[in-house]
Amino acid sequence: MPQARAALIAAASAPYRRVGHYPYLHACSKLRVDPAFMTIVQRGLLTGRARLLDLGCGQGLLSAWLRAAHICHARGLWPENWPPPPTPISVHGIEMTPLDVERARHALLRPPPGDMKLEFVAGDIRSAELQPADAIVILDVLHYIPRPAQEQVLRRVRAALAPGALLLTRIGDAGGGLPYCFSTWVDKAVLLARGRGLQPLYCRPLSDWLRLLTECGFETQTIPMRAGTPFANVMLLAEAR
Ligand SMILES: C[S@@+](CC[C@H](N)C(=O)[O-])C[C@H]1O[C@@H](n2cnc3c(N)ncnc32)[C@H](O)[C@@H]1O
Repeated sequence: MPQARAALIAAASAPYRRVGHYPYLHACSKLRVDPAFMTIVQRGLLTGRARLLDLGCGQGLLSAWLRAAHICHARGLWPENWPPPPTPISVHGIEMTPLDVERARHALLRPPPGDMKLEFVAGDIRSAELQPADAIVILDVLHYIPRPAQEQVLRRVRAALAPGALLLTRIGDAGGGLPYCFSTWVDKAVLLARGRGLQPLYCRPLSDWLRLLTECGFETQTIPMRAGTPFANVMLLAEAR
């Protein structure tokens, strides 16, 4: 398993070498320390979902990861006890920061990515067109959006999903005590470091997220994401009803 994990991280980070030192280091370190990416492949959370939307996709790490899973599986570097890797036919990423969109395109669209159609567009997920999808992923994005707009985004996401399709999202649990305070402190520090100034964050306790998702037409399961990290993060698997 450690060998498969190392191979995945190496294959997913490699395309960012040609983009620059920072995007490459960001890819290596985030993929190594963030449990979300391993959880997605080890639990097969996106397996069998053909059309994916990645909202707030940053520099495209999820696409890089899924592409790396495909490569590692084809090379026989895939543990037998893992579910088959996700093999989406398309991943459509929407991201507000144009520099990140450029980085994703530069890393992942040249050379062409084979059977998996990747696309990265600059846009605000509050207003961008959301194409019909089999799964929509929103990793660590919703808390940047003011509360009333969070609900609008979730309703638009629900409208893009047929019953049984999946919203996979990760939120910080505002009821999570000190680890939650640490998470928001890190988020604010990252925003400052990226030149965005002191922006407010719009967080909710887990119970509030679950209520909102129910109201928006989802049936939700939680996967705690705290183990091995200092954060109060929870992955939410929300199936469209
Ligand atoms: C913490 S990063 C996560 C990036 C990516 N989901 C990942 O896991 O690597 C949050 C991203 O959401 C983007 N974002 C925040 N609000 C957004 C919005 N309204 N529309 C599109 N992107 C947004 C930010 O620019 C940033 O790239």
